[in-house]
Amino acid sequence: MSDVNSNEPTPVSQTAIWKELQAHAQAMSQVTFSTLFRDAQRGSQFRAEGASIVFDYSRQHLTQHTLRLLEELAQECFISQQRDALFSGAPINRSENRPALHTALRMPQGDSLFVDGKNIVADVQAVLQHMGDFVEALWRGAICGSTGSPLRNVVNIGIGGSYLGPELLYQAMRRYRNPQIRVRFLANVDGAAFADAIDGLDPTETLFIVSSKTFTTGETIENFKKAQSWLRSSLGVEDVSAHFVAVTANLNEALQHEFVPDRIFAFWDWVGGRYSVSSAIGLSVMAAIGSQHFRDFLHGFHRMDENFRTASLSENLPLLHGLIAVWNNNFLGNETLAVLPYAHDLRRFPAYLQQLFMESNGKRVDQNGHPVSTDTCPILWGEPGTCGQHSFFQLLHQGTRSVASDFIGFLDPLDADPQSHDYLMASLFAQCEALAFGKDADALAAEGVPAEQIPHRVCPGNRPANILLAPALSPEYLGALIALYEHSVFVQGIIWGINSFDQWGVELGKQLAHRSLTELSTRSIDRQAHDSATVADMELYLQHRK
Ligand code: F6P
Repeated sequence: MSDVNSNEPTPVSQTAIWKELQAHAQAMSQVTFSTLFRDAQRGSQFRAEGASIVFDYSRQHLTQHTLRLLEELAQECFISQQRDALFSGAPINRSENRPALHTALRMPQGDSLFVDGKNIVADVQAVLQHMGDFVEALWRGAICGSTGSPLRNVVNIGIGGSYLGPELLYQAMRRYRNPQIRVRFLANVDGAAFADAIDGLDPTETLFIVSSKTFTTGETIENFKKAQSWLRSSLGVEDVSAHFVAVTANLNEALQHEFVPDRIFAFWDWVGGRYSVSSAIGLSVMAAIGSQHFRDFLHGFHRMDENFRTASLSENLPLLHGLIAVWNNNFLGNETLAVLPYAHDLRRFPAYLQQLFMESNGKRVDQNGHPVSTDTCPILWGEPGTCGQHSFFQLLHQGTRSVASDFIGFLDPLDADPQSHDYLMASLFAQCEALAFGKDADALAAEGVPAEQIPHRVCPGNRPANILLAPALSPEYLGALIALYEHSVFVQGIIWGINSFDQWGVELGKQLAHRSLTELSTRSIDRQAHDSATVADMELYLQHRK
């Protein structure tokens, strides 16, 4: 890794530090957690706090020496320079020649950041004001539909980053919602999803927020048209524009669909779809929780942005988290990461993080287009605790593959039942303990377990797990938690030398679907254009299609 701007850097796996980490990993994989925890200080030493989030990484196969080597790896990959480039608005998304400036979305009012001679923080604040005014009017009953009824049902139409973040936040912010406003999400292009989204809604009182960065996403435009038809047929009027607002970075395209400018909430090309929850894409969330809580959410993001931008390794949560993820994935063979929120309201966090991690870092070439020399993104999956315990945790405890996991818990149950919360948190702590230390044959024998059962009941332990503890599931701390993962993804991408901000891989499937849709709707399959299996499957479908 000769130079930060070099066109042909040495593949990371060829560097001396990578090789040193490989050798060190061999040694560390033999060391048990029981041995590491003989040091009574370990529990307090291997933890950090930033933006009020506590990160306990003591149950990882690492020592201070490992951290020093990982820090050296980060330096080798010019992490501080790359981080500065991210925050300053350099065009780090090289295949699309643009910055990735989601951090500007949460910079405080009054701050400035100039991109192409323009203070983009002022633009961000103007849109926040636009959103806030709209939501205030909505709450007052001053936003009315075509029959004059105040709108109080909100349906967000959008997919991917224009859906997963808003839905996550809406669910997570249950305690902060205005009960007068009902919010639903429509993402999938499936009649069942549409039926679900409008189920029980009075069309005279329903507002659709059409959320799409590009405003060309097929599924979203299809659902938008369906919503227009539903309103037209149920209200018996042609002009249903009062029931729609748009959120987009493609103003011209939204204007083509006859949205008027003051019903369009802007964001910008420099916000990636999966990094857009802190932009106007959060309008449906703001409609539910109000402008102040939304600003609290942005404040939490900013606190973690600052932690990442300024803290040294021992206190830098995203840097620690990202480097530990690389350690587990590339050196210790943990191919997947399980994310386990111990909070029902955070049940969509794994789905949200799947897009964030796998669309960002599911890459096979580096920034220069050369094949990468190491594995990249781990497969991310998960479910809320304690439900996962009664399903796939068996594999975590006794399967043949080691899985790294992130356990996420909240110290204050807010208004939830404190006794259930004790149960939830006791489960979190117990699972991490069991995964780390397991139970051996001697302990089972001492408990009087029959000899023939002992092999079945041994839990080997030594499964790595992080614990992230936030004070409460509030807007501020959720913002901080999301920012932690955003920057962890960035750190991992830098180590692998890939572009975490494009997603060319999703295009091919879209193109093929476009062609297949034309064929299905005209009932004429171009047999020369497909393989024999696709032809047979499409023919079968058409035979059954009424
Ligand atoms: O197809 C993938 C993707 O481009 C995501 O990156 C994005 O979040 C999603 O589609 C939706 O895109 P848009 O907001 O432009 O409708």
